[in-house]
Amino acid sequence: MLDQKTIEIVKSTVPVLEQHGEAITTKFYQLMFGNHPELLNIFNHANQKQGRQQRALASAVYAAAAYIDNLEAILPVVKQIAHKHRSLGIKQEHYPIVGKHLLLAIKDVLGDAATDEIIDAWAKAYGVIADAFIGVEAEMYAEAKNQKGGWEDFRRFIVDKKIAESDVITSFYLKPVDHKPIADFRPGQYISIKLEIEGEKFTHIRQYSLSDAPGKDYYRISVKREAGMLNPDGKVSNYLHDSVEEGEILQISAPAGDFVLDTNKETPVVLLSGGVGLTPMMSMLKTVVDVQPERKVTFIHAAQNGNVHALRDEVEELAQLEKVTSYFFYDSPTEEDRENNRFDVEGYVTREWLEEKVPVGEADFYFCGPVPFMKAINGFLLDLGVNEDRIHFEFFGPKAALV
Ligand code: HEM
Repeated sequence: MLDQKTIEIVKSTVPVLEQHGEAITTKFYQLMFGNHPELLNIFNHANQKQGRQQRALASAVYAAAAYIDNLEAILPVVKQIAHKHRSLGIKQEHYPIVGKHLLLAIKDVLGDAATDEIIDAWAKAYGVIADAFIGVEAEMYAEAKNQKGGWEDFRRFIVDKKIAESDVITSFYLKPVDHKPIADFRPGQYISIKLEIEGEKFTHIRQYSLSDAPGKDYYRISVKREAGMLNPDGKVSNYLHDSVEEGEILQISAPAGDFVLDTNKETPVVLLSGGVGLTPMMSMLKTVVDVQPERKVTFIHAAQNGNVHALRDEVEELAQLEKVTSYFFYDSPTEEDRENNRFDVEGYVTREWLEEKVPVGEADFYFCGPVPFMKAINGFLLDLGVNEDRIHFEFFGPKAALV
């Protein structure tokens, strides 16, 4: 327990740190990677370059500090981050490294304003926050390891099948090299892949949502080829597309993530996706059909056009079922798309369209896609009076980018 004085100092200095948030975390990463370059094996270089992780970490630390005497209140956020940490292999011994460099960065940026008393209070507060994460993550590691077919860190999987799903999206079917069972997962969850790319100094870890239903003897991911070899995200996805063939071995961590379909509910479910955001939605769609065949489901997918639209056949097959309805939105259809009636609506999903076509008053909404898509859908649903507890979303990259 922290003493009252420490709590007061921490809470009263949150706004100062917030004001200098980005400067502090930028300095923090600079110092930490300078002293511990091995951590570049874990951190996403793309997020670092774009400053996304800087903001995510800063806002999480301030949120936690503001609730330092009531961390229970932010447990859901801690858990969401902890899923990501567990999937990446973040361990207890990493926390003091982050803590030390965060304090050094605070001192560096605030200068004389960061008195010993303030630094001491933040050191104590960081210890409490870190312990909360370590505790939650320890439980997650134990769960990942002890479940049937589970494992703790990274496990070797072979690429059993590689299938091009569109001009830009390719599926990889992954089976464990040891032929033993694999952990079950909940639709919406992701795995991490740790890649060693020839000529690269550090490994790259990326998360990919599982795109098939649970209960198979493989995991399937469907990866979009991101543009630009100089963009580190592009580097990883292009490497998977161009250099990882059937028979190749990949290192995978056990399924993680709290963006999952609630199969205890029986409300109609509306699954919306933009681009490669369709991967967790596919898993959800297939799961509903498998385990809740009586549940009404509407699958809405927005793509540029038919050339980049993946997994269309799988959706169309399921849409034959009475309870399943699907709609495809293309914003730039090709002539061929028009001739072959490949889409239902030209343009983007709108508030009016949703109001007319989906059971706004009773459904649960799950969505995933690029940030502008997510912002638009989230805004429409709130506008239409959908309660926040019926709105569930995930997008690729730190969640803070949506706020
Ligand atoms: C991701 C917070 C400790 C490594 C994140 C995210 C947040 C966060 C908010 C983004 C989650 C998302 O993507 O949805 C924190 C806080 C910590 C802490 C508050 C301390 C109390 C650590 C430690 C390490 C670490 C000790 C390892 C040295 C990472 C990595 C990511 C991440 C590698 C993935 C994003 C990327 O690669 O850029 N953390 N974290 N974190 N965290 Fe932490």
